Amino acid sequence: MKASLKACDVVIFGGGGDLAMRKLLPALFHLDMDGLLAPTTRIIGASRREVSTEDYQAKVRDALDEFVPSSIGDEKTWPRFKERLSYVSVDAQQESDFSRLNDHQVGGDDRDVVFYLATSPDLFGSICSSLATHGLNADRMRVVLEKPLGRDLKSSRAINDEVMKNFNEQQAFRIDHYLGKETVQNLLAIRFGNTLFEPLWSSAHIDNVQITVSETVGVEGRWGYYDNAGAMRDMVQNHLIQLLCLVAMEPPGRMDADSVRDEKIKVLKALRPIVGANAYNKTVRGQYAKGMIKGKGVQGYFDEEGSNPDSRTETFVALRADIDNWRWAGVPFYLRTGKRLGQRYSEIVIQYKAVPHSIFSDESNRQLQRNQLIIRLQPEEKISLTVMNKVPGASEGMNLQPVDLNLSLTEAFNDKRSPEAYERLLLDVMRNDATLFMRYDEVEAAWKWVDGIMSAWSQTSERPKEYASGSWGPAASMALPIKDGRNWHDY
Ligand code: BG6
Repeated sequence: MKASLKACDVVIFGGGGDLAMRKLLPALFHLDMDGLLAPTTRIIGASRREVSTEDYQAKVRDALDEFVPSSIGDEKTWPRFKERLSYVSVDAQQESDFSRLNDHQVGGDDRDVVFYLATSPDLFGSICSSLATHGLNADRMRVVLEKPLGRDLKSSRAINDEVMKNFNEQQAFRIDHYLGKETVQNLLAIRFGNTLFEPLWSSAHIDNVQITVSETVGVEGRWGYYDNAGAMRDMVQNHLIQLLCLVAMEPPGRMDADSVRDEKIKVLKALRPIVGANAYNKTVRGQYAKGMIKGKGVQGYFDEEGSNPDSRTETFVALRADIDNWRWAGVPFYLRTGKRLGQRYSEIVIQYKAVPHSIFSDESNRQLQRNQLIIRLQPEEKISLTVMNKVPGASEGMNLQPVDLNLSLTEAFNDKRSPEAYERLLLDVMRNDATLFMRYDEVEAAWKWVDGIMSAWSQTSERPKEYASGSWGPAASMALPIKDGRNWHDY
């Protein structure tokens, strides 16, 4: 990682909340540990509660103890990190409170400022307007906008319009933490740092692409938020679609923000709309029922605290997307994601076509499998390529067997800690690099596509299909690629 040693103030709205404690502050701590924060960079928690800086520091320390694995918890860094931390009480809806940020010298000495809005998006507009009123929207100041950016195109536009009244597009960093994951960036390295894959990266050689993000957790006490969103808005509209864009986009001319985003937007615009009756053939919705995960009984969606038995919110989605352009004509992109599934893992599978003609015997032919490139994002970070090999031994004749050529990033770079997604992304905001963030037209195009599907769903009386927790989702999801003569890749 290149250093961001320019001094900067990082102000976290929602500074006492879950995201700040679990992800943002541990990420900043790691950056400090790795020597990537300038000596005078400050981190300022902001939220409505009246808390002293000392109490805030103690709360952060507790969070670090809980969320930074002890093997890398570093007592040398803590005193330095603690010095950087302070707290300012600001009610996001009280414009006058924002003067406390001026009193705190935020942005003083012409430093860059990152305002991280880890709050409900309903507050983005008023926070940005109050920041501007207090002179805190100069070009060297940036806002990071956490998802969900709305719940449809209309609400997303409204949020964006509010933010854009006081900040310009170059200052707006719309975060999708999946883009900060190491293997996701490695996908770009694999595609554009090698000559090997790109000539084979099209419908001429690829049969289908599969993107799976499977979670074992349920809604984790956030029924209210989740039920208003569902898997489509919570995961597909952002994380899965972003992965699809990186797989499908044309090679950008340069690795810079607009070149990459210009290519992603072309993919989004080429996504074939899934509307009306097509939504029944091409999508499957599910809702988890009780079941077993890793030998333990777990509750169903309607047993979760705060649940409402009439809810039709999907906790699982599988769908077939098609990209209408030369490169991808006829190549289905199967996407699926769900909560309370059998295993936590995320992967992208590039499934190549079968050999055009086999020279082998019937027996060998039965063993012939197609090449697959598997990019595993989690739990482990690895890339593997399945190729056919001869089984060794004179008596084996021409027996074939698929063998995985594995690149385990953990093993290949074993002296390197793999950074968390938020580390990379926070560093990028501090050094003003928006390549791994979403431009507004991308968010809008993704919503437009998702809105088409959601609107088709809303016109049916059909409920999402129930699936047992610990399974791989509703049976209909299994059938989705089977209808096309294909299968999901087994984990
Ligand atoms: C978040 C969703 O954006 O991503 C959560 O709101 C989901 O519902 C999470 O659990 C998954 O992220 P990760 O990095 O754990 O795969």
